[in-house]
Amino acid sequence: MSTIPSPHPSPGIAAQSAPLSSPLDSLLAPPLTRPAVVARLRAAGCVFAEDEAELLVSTARTPDELAAMVERRTGGLPLEHVLGWAEFAGLRVAVDPGVFVPRRRTEFLLGRAVGLARALDRPRPVIVDLCCGSGAVGAALAAALGRVELYAADIEPAAVRCARRNLAAAGGEVHEGDLFAALPAGLRGRIDVLVANVPYVPTDEVGLLPPEAREHEPLVALDGGADGLDVLRRVTAAAPEWLAPGGHVLVETSERQAPHAVEAFARNGLVPQVAGDDDLYATVVIGTGTGTGRGTGSSTHHQAPRPAHHSC
Ligand SMILES: C[S@@+](CC[C@H](N)C(=O)[O-])C[C@H]1O[C@@H](n2cnc3c(N)ncnc32)[C@H](O)[C@@H]1O
Repeated sequence: MSTIPSPHPSPGIAAQSAPLSSPLDSLLAPPLTRPAVVARLRAAGCVFAEDEAELLVSTARTPDELAAMVERRTGGLPLEHVLGWAEFAGLRVAVDPGVFVPRRRTEFLLGRAVGLARALDRPRPVIVDLCCGSGAVGAALAAALGRVELYAADIEPAAVRCARRNLAAAGGEVHEGDLFAALPAGLRGRIDVLVANVPYVPTDEVGLLPPEAREHEPLVALDGGADGLDVLRRVTAAAPEWLAPGGHVLVETSERQAPHAVEAFARNGLVPQVAGDDDLYATVVIGTGTGTGRGTGSSTHHQAPRPAHHSC
């Protein structure tokens, strides 16, 4: 597995190309037919032009809107930003321009989080989606679990606005700020399941990402520092203070990063576990709090527990 997240979740545009039409064209041109949309997408290098055309045609409310969407897509904007939504775990999640597009692979993290939350058997588990982006993971957790006390946070104002919309139905509170500093202090020692899909692309590899990610998603959503684990280390250092006894924190990494992530978890007194899914190209590191929740894991005096590896 590469350390670079696999290609963009939407059927990608193979190469950047100039828009095929000008604003004047769209004023004079007849409404776009579905075959014409397919042809334009194909000419722009869209790998799955038929599928994308179907989505664009079914989402656009007017011919002009369709023409504008086709123009944005052929100009290289991610499909999800053109549509204004992404599918995640069977949900249609709003994704605004400049907000990270939730990846299919993250459904694996979601599945693990749902399983762990159910096993805790709390009547209303406290769930936090840190580094929430659009809030897709939090929204899907709430949809799967039913009664939850849901919080989310992100450092990017555009992400916070988007997540507020996506989490409103679940009664989720979305806060803006740097990691745990954004959360209400009263959550310390109370979080049952903390999901944190942090940025984890090593700085030197951001330039190797597909243009759709590199050019249309904010750097802060992608760049995880020299080895990609800077934000993850900060999360694991603070998480033990915030977790309820027996609570869990889940992060996504690359397969190559997982052993280093495990060290970070263990160093902070979290019992680490690695899980992977070859089909989704996903690796998740899970840490379980061992203490009483308040300030139990921030020292280096804990014995490093041995990680378990589960592959499925
Ligand atoms: C890889 S994206 C994941 C978004 C979302 N959880 C998902 O899976 O679709 C990482 C997110 O972390 C946010 N982020 C990066 N650094 C942060 C920080 N220090 N505090 C809070 N959020 C941060 C970015 O703005 C971005 O939305």
